[in-house]
Amino acid sequence: MTRTVYVNGEFLPETEAKVSIFDRGFLMADGVYEVTSVLGGKLIDFDGHAVRLERSLTELDMANPISKEDLLEVHRELVRVNEIDEGMVYLQITRGAPDDRDFVFPDPETTPATIVLFTQNKPGLASSPVAQTGIKVISIEDVRWGRRDIKTVQLLYPSMGKMMAKKAGADDAWMVEDGFVTEGTSNNAYIVKGNKIITRGLSNDILHGITRAAVLRFAKEAQMEVEERNFTIEEAMQADEAFITSASTFVMPVVEIDGAQLGDGKPGKVAPRLREIYLDESLKKAI
Ligand code: PDD
Repeated sequence: MTRTVYVNGEFLPETEAKVSIFDRGFLMADGVYEVTSVLGGKLIDFDGHAVRLERSLTELDMANPISKEDLLEVHRELVRVNEIDEGMVYLQITRGAPDDRDFVFPDPETTPATIVLFTQNKPGLASSPVAQTGIKVISIEDVRWGRRDIKTVQLLYPSMGKMMAKKAGADDAWMVEDGFVTEGTSNNAYIVKGNKIITRGLSNDILHGITRAAVLRFAKEAQMEVEERNFTIEEAMQADEAFITSASTFVMPVVEIDGAQLGDGKPGKVAPRLREIYLDESLKKAI
């Protein structure tokens, strides 16, 4: 099926949508993005994604080309016309396409931002069989830039990390800086010790996950203890459980780290329970 996508104010068939070769997203990765999940044809945590988008744009001194209300309408229209029941909406905003390549930022008065949205259809996203078995991760050095709190489209290293994981027979990579886990290639990382959930605190070192915020809130409401602090791969290997969170995986158990099985190699109690709570509660508030 040919998707309908949104480019700079127009809804078009994906085959007709075009962006300039001078676009700074293409030439310089000068752009930001968001991924919002769709369940039951509704958007999960749209507000959180819209707020983070605004923050990413502000941090990069980029103008926001669309109001929150219009952005919601575009999301909803794409979900509707593409008949998405479960999946994602991808949004990207770049600093636009000036007349020529230049390191200097173009004048926003003459170079408007580029905005692109498209849907990704993922039937069975919520009931993913992988969530029953869990995923395997490897550790790799985190060599990304120092502003990982901004959701930029500079995803080459995370993409390489994913390939390193695949080559090693694993599903994903956890990145390590100065001996401590930062996050997964496209998700936040957690370990569980007893009734305690441990995850790195918020700083410029990691993306402030929208799913992370919701999951930690639900965990506290369910009387689970949450400790936001650094942890090492060695500590993770000794943990009772581990898991990741993101808009595309929700809560996903991790059952192996660098070839070492966690516990009996099956998802424990905490991650599946958090997944269930997250899906239930998020669906109630989906728009
Ligand atoms: N990735 N950390 C990184 C590096 C990420 O790329 C993501 C999301 C997260 C989790 O954030 P959230 O819970 O808001 O999705 C953490 C998206 C899903 C992606 O790149 O496809």
